[in-house]
Amino acid sequence: MRNISILLLFFISITTFSQKAKDVATTPPMGWNSWNTFGTEINEQLVKDIADAFVDLGLRDAGYNYLVLDDGWMAKERDENNNLVPGPNKFPNGMKDVVDYVHSRGLKFGIYNCAGNKTCAGYPGSRGFEYQDAKLYAEWGVDFLKYDWCNTENLNAKGAYQTMRDALYATGRPILFSICEWGDNDPWKWGEEMGHMWRVTGDIINCWDCKVGHGTWSSLGVWPIIKLRKEIRKYTGPGHWNDFDMMEVGNGMTAAEDRVHFAMWSMLSSPLIMGNDLRSASKETIVTLTNKEVIAVNQDELGIQAYCHSDEGELEIWVKPLHNGEWAFAFVNMSKERIEVDYEWNRHPVKDDLSNRELKADHIVYKIRDLYNHKDLGTTKTNLKSDIGSHDVLMLRLVPDIK
Ligand code: GLA
Repeated sequence: MRNISILLLFFISITTFSQKAKDVATTPPMGWNSWNTFGTEINEQLVKDIADAFVDLGLRDAGYNYLVLDDGWMAKERDENNNLVPGPNKFPNGMKDVVDYVHSRGLKFGIYNCAGNKTCAGYPGSRGFEYQDAKLYAEWGVDFLKYDWCNTENLNAKGAYQTMRDALYATGRPILFSICEWGDNDPWKWGEEMGHMWRVTGDIINCWDCKVGHGTWSSLGVWPIIKLRKEIRKYTGPGHWNDFDMMEVGNGMTAAEDRVHFAMWSMLSSPLIMGNDLRSASKETIVTLTNKEVIAVNQDELGIQAYCHSDEGELEIWVKPLHNGEWAFAFVNMSKERIEVDYEWNRHPVKDDLSNRELKADHIVYKIRDLYNHKDLGTTKTNLKSDIGSHDVLMLRLVPDIK
C-alpha cells in the first residue's frame, strides 16, 4: 500500500510539475520585440512609448499584445543575493514599474534571458539561477520569456529548456516560453513539450534574399529563412509554433517586399512579432501590419503551416488550409518585373497530404477575396486574372460558396 502511495505521489508530481503553461499561444503569438531595431539600446521611456504606440496605432486592436524587451535590459552583474538587476540608468524605476505600465495599456510584457552563463550581448545568463530568475520574473508580472542559446558550452538543449520550463511552471504564473536556440538541435522535435514557440534559424536580417556571414553564423533574409524551414510543417500547431523570427517589416525593404514578408509569416503560422520602431513607422508600414484579413489567416484556429504548391519560374504559389474548408493563397512574384497571372483553378489540383484537405474547385465554387486590396474577386468558376508587381504578393482567401 505504502509503495502504491509513493508511486502515486511520484506520478502526481511529474504530471503536476513537469509541464509548460497550458492554454497559452493557442494561435501564433503576436507582439513586438526590441532587438531588430534597438539592440541593447533600450530603456524605460522607450518601452512606455512603444506601449502607447501599440494602442494609438491600432496595433493592440489588431491583436498584437506582447511587448518584449530583448537583450540588454540588465546590469552587468547580479546583486549580492544573486538576483538580476535592471540596468540602473536604463530602468531607474525598476522593472515592475515598466511592467505595470505595459499592463495598464492592456498589453502583456515579455523579457529575455539566456540558457548560458551570459547572454549573447554579455549580460548575466540564467545558467544555475533558473528558479531564482523565474521567480523574479513572476514577481514583476512577466508574461513571456524569450530564452536564448549563447554561451551554453556542453549544455544539452532539451535539458536546458526543460529546466527553465519547469522553473517557469513552478512560479504558478502562465508565462509563454519562447525557445531561441536557432534550430541548431532540431527544437521542433522536442519543443512542443518544452515551450510555446521555437526559433527555426539564426537571426533574420532586413533583406529579401541575402545572407550575411558573421564568422560562426549568418543572418538570413526573408526568403533564405522560408526556404530553409519549409519542410518542418508538421511540428507547428496550436500551443507550439515554428518561429520564423521577429519581423523586419518597416525596416528598409520596399513596401511590396514588406507585404510579402508579412503575408508569408501569416501563411506559415509564424508568431507575428514586429521588430520596427513603432514611434516613427510610416502609414504604409502600419497599414500592412494591421491588415486584419491577413492577420486572420495567421490566427486561423487550425494552425496549419502553408506549403509551396508550385514554384515554377518567377511565380511561387503558397497554400494554407483554413478552418471551415477555406483556403489562403499567396501568389508571390519573385522576379524583378511585373508579371501577369492567368490561373485556371480546375487545372491545378490542390491537396495537402499533411492535413488531408483538398480544394475541390472542380465541384465546389469558392468565392475569392483579395486580402491586401480588400476586394472580392469573383469565384473559382472563372480564371484568376491579375498582375503582380515585382517582389509583391496577391494574397487570397477562398471561401466555399454554399447557398
Ligand atoms: C541572439 C538571438 C537574437 C537576439 C540576440 C540578443 O542572436 O537570436 O534574436 O535575442 O541574441 O543578443
